[in-house]
Amino acid sequence: MCGIVGYTGCREAYPILIKGLHRLEYRGYDSAGVALLSENGNLNIYKAVGKVSNLEQQAAGHDCSGTIGIAHTRWATHGAPNERNAHPHISQSGALTMVHNGIIENAGVLRDQLRTRGFSFRSDTDTEVLLQLIEYTRQKHNLDLASSVRAALKKVIGAYAIAVIDKDTPDTIVVARKSSPLAIGVGEADSEFFIASDASPIAGYTNRIVYLKDEEVAVVRKDHELVITDLNAGRVDVQTKEVDLDLTMLDKGGFPHFMLKEIFDQPAVLRDCMRGRILPAHKRIVLSAVTEHREELIHAKRYLMVSCGTSWHAALIGKQLIEQFCRIPVEVAYASEFRYSDPVVGPGDVVFAISQSGETADTLSAVQMATERGAMVFGIVNAVGSSIARASDTGTYIHVGPEIGVASTKAFTGQTTVLAMLALAIGREKGTVNEEDYLAALDELGQIPDKISRILEKNDEIKALAQKYTDKKNFLYLGRGMNYPVALEGALKLKEISYIHAEGYPAAEMKHGPIALVDEDMPVVFLATHHNLYEKILSNMQEVAARKGRVLAIVSEGDTVVRGIAEHVIEVPHTANFLCPLVSVIPLQLLAYHIAVAKGLDVDQPRNLAKSVTVE
Ligand code: AGP
Repeated sequence: MCGIVGYTGCREAYPILIKGLHRLEYRGYDSAGVALLSENGNLNIYKAVGKVSNLEQQAAGHDCSGTIGIAHTRWATHGAPNERNAHPHISQSGALTMVHNGIIENAGVLRDQLRTRGFSFRSDTDTEVLLQLIEYTRQKHNLDLASSVRAALKKVIGAYAIAVIDKDTPDTIVVARKSSPLAIGVGEADSEFFIASDASPIAGYTNRIVYLKDEEVAVVRKDHELVITDLNAGRVDVQTKEVDLDLTMLDKGGFPHFMLKEIFDQPAVLRDCMRGRILPAHKRIVLSAVTEHREELIHAKRYLMVSCGTSWHAALIGKQLIEQFCRIPVEVAYASEFRYSDPVVGPGDVVFAISQSGETADTLSAVQMATERGAMVFGIVNAVGSSIARASDTGTYIHVGPEIGVASTKAFTGQTTVLAMLALAIGREKGTVNEEDYLAALDELGQIPDKISRILEKNDEIKALAQKYTDKKNFLYLGRGMNYPVALEGALKLKEISYIHAEGYPAAEMKHGPIALVDEDMPVVFLATHHNLYEKILSNMQEVAARKGRVLAIVSEGDTVVRGIAEHVIEVPHTANFLCPLVSVIPLQLLAYHIAVAKGLDVDQPRNLAKSVTVE
């Protein structure tokens, strides 16, 4: 999704803006641009299609001076990804320039109205419409920039995070947000300010961050106190948060891609995720949200889980974990469907919102709807201070560090780990898990990071295997029980980075249709680890082998039966049934990664995808 960076202060803005854009590259984008206001009052704007490095080439040799500027990475919504549509846009008079993340849904109507008032447009974007509306309002009512922004925003329907500069006020950026994230980094004694879509471009400059709330407008002026108002110009308290961001976590750490680094990060970050929560000395899991909301959690009528993509797959695992250990019914919904389904949800229900970024628009809307209807919202989020984390009543961070690769890996295992801890903690409070099983489960959970490390040692083996499958056009992934969501996740990983069509299915469902696809050209990946449905999956595997499907199986160490059926096997360590997704998903992440690399594709920023989907 689009990324915004801005700076006003005493330093040269350009290097800060470019570095910030690089840190936002993970969000996914198709063009980039920067606007700088130089000392002599010139507004210099540079844009390029493709990578931020193209923008740097474009700007090289031109005037990039100035201590105030805004910059943007664009993920096209209105209009093709070309230079004309790239941000920053400039107003008709040339006085205002703006960057925007979000969608203005009534842009068409507003454009027509502005045309009748003498405005013309250089781009196909909704952003330019909003900018011209701000300019029109400013000229018509002779308003200052902040007042014209507020007045214009009252007329728009949709989502926005914007940053606007006016040549007449050369030290000020006006920013605003609704449904799209925006953070303001506050420098020493308000001398300088950093603006960004998330905290990562601000890291290293200041850890004092203000997260704008919906329909708030901030006047960000160097050497001046930060002023925030609502759309009616009412002053709003400025709430500054201290956010610790580890800069080393934003580096590739010697790996060729963020995705591979994040796959290899998993043992360490899962230890971080459990640290302080699993107390080995006391043989207990302690989650503060469970302690604080014990009564609501154990007496809930039912639980609902809302999420998207990989986080939705984690929710499918969470459902099985909660139902097994807590005996509470759990419904899992795609957030995008939930929000428009007039859901039966209300007091007594607990809604778990699962999101890596904490900014996914569909999940955030589902949270808001659940809150309006009286349910308690429990966030399971990675990005600290993100919109979903703030909109939740309580929650547990997964604490796996920033995930930069568009294909989610460590967030999935982090979410699964938190869901397992949660199920055990609530089950123990509710009395639905006995002490012996609880202690055994705790012990197994503690061993997971080491077991993942052992699977990662097979990286070269999986890389060699991947070379055999790069020319394939289709893949099937089959699993049962706890491994069924892993089949879905394996298929999603493959399709999003290798562009190979892949489907995940519950293995037994295959004979109700998908088996028609099986022939000697169809790789079928079986999740056949030793778990409660192992025997059942063997029969499904035989059915595929009998039709000459090419079976590739993930098995538990020492398995000899599957070796007799499958063309290739990858062994993973034994673990308890409820934890098998945490080991069986690792080879699938590596397989997808190596197939995509072998095909020469952009693994970290696959085509058409955004890391943080902040539009519906
Ligand atoms: C996973 O690899 C994805 N790129 C995507 O499905 C992602 O999980 C989804 O967009 C939800 O994001 P979130 O966890 O940040 O809410």
